[in-house]
Amino acid sequence: MNIRPRRNRKNAAIRDMVQEAHLGVEHLIFPVFLKDGTGVKEEISSLPNIYRWSVDILLKEIEECVELGIRVFDIFPCVEEHLKDKTATLSYNPDNFYLKAIQKIKETFPDVVLMSDVALDPYSSDGHDGLVKNGQIVNDETLPILAKMSIAQAQAGIDIIGPSDMMDGRVGVIRKALDTSGYVDTSIMSYTAKYASSFYGPFRDALKSAPKSGDKKTYQMNPANKTEALIEANLDIEEGADMIMVKPALCYLDVVHLLKENFAVPITAYNVSGEYAMVHAASQKGWLNYEAAMSEMLLSIRRAGADGILTYFAKDFAKSING
Ligand code: PBG
Repeated sequence: MNIRPRRNRKNAAIRDMVQEAHLGVEHLIFPVFLKDGTGVKEEISSLPNIYRWSVDILLKEIEECVELGIRVFDIFPCVEEHLKDKTATLSYNPDNFYLKAIQKIKETFPDVVLMSDVALDPYSSDGHDGLVKNGQIVNDETLPILAKMSIAQAQAGIDIIGPSDMMDGRVGVIRKALDTSGYVDTSIMSYTAKYASSFYGPFRDALKSAPKSGDKKTYQMNPANKTEALIEANLDIEEGADMIMVKPALCYLDVVHLLKENFAVPITAYNVSGEYAMVHAASQKGWLNYEAAMSEMLLSIRRAGADGILTYFAKDFAKSING
């Protein structure tokens, strides 16, 4: 045999020397859930070790994460049901606890990068990402709400706006709104190829944001489709997205790869709540080794072509490499 690939695997030093993909804490974005109030640290049963925090406690959590090297956080609001309405007005109300918390976090940690989610669902009495009229999720009437929400978030100090709603034309409308309000340096990381996935269940438990009726299939992508992701990516980049995301990550690594091969902007992947929950469930049963499965999953997302990864594993991964 002239060629024996095993020679390049024969010891740790050689394996490390020829290793292709690398994963560090600098690649990770940590999604965290925020609740109104003080002293709140609420467990989410379908997301082990992930909590709903009030801002006072979240500041301590962020400090711990920063010490572990995590510098980018995606903050999601958990809104009381009685504050929700059809047009998600709380999302851009200056008294919104979320916007105030963002200001507080940025004041305390000016170097931390904060990302937001832009969609109606956490604030909507219908639990949909867009405005619901006569049972339909209406596209164009949703856009001005998304624009208002984005401006309010930028004003509060959000560094990266994350439109996750999948309405057509949202990135362009948001970019224009940010620019005309003077937020030219606020970035947009668009949820570009966001699939109508069953892996979002635990997240919807965390925010109590599940749709009150119907599903999200008229706006989120069909899991069977790949080339359609190219249409979405072309649009988002033309409309001004600085970075584009694929979500979920694991069932869609081919899409991550496709976008990485075809576009010059950074690609991110969202390792979603259900993907995190299933590793926990299996390792609790003793069927998987938690740390090994976590590292392999995250590394495979990098290998597929993701520059950044949104993941609930962020803190555990950071701890694992910090010894
Ligand atoms: C809301 C949103 C969802 C997630 C991120 N933003 C849920 C959904 O679209 O229903 C899911 C994240 C996860 O499962 O971790 N627009």
